[in-house]
Amino acid sequence: MTEAAPQPTIAQKAPYPAQVEAGKSYWWCTCGNSGKQPFCDGTHKGSAFAPLKYTADKDGQVWFCGCKASAKAPLCDGRHKAL
Ligand code: FES
Ligand code: FES
Repeated sequence: MTEAAPQPTIAQKAPYPAQVEAGKSYWWCTCGNSGKQPFCDGTHKGSAFAPLKYTADKDGQVWFCGCKASAKAPLCDGRHKAL
């Protein structure tokens, strides 16, 4: 018997814009339960989820996925529009 993969919580059905700096790393929340969306605040501890590291390759604005369903996580790929 296989267990179903745990489903993340939809933090919001829209991306979070964020200013990032080249070379800096950011920890995107995969579980959807962080109080500091779109970033991990440690709330996932004890669950099957772990944050996903994102390292910016240039300065500027990016759109982090808020629905947690993007196939291009941690960035939004527009999939939230179908939820
Ligand atoms: Fe969601 Fe850490 S709080 S992955
Ligand atoms: Fe998740 Fe856009 S917010 S795909």
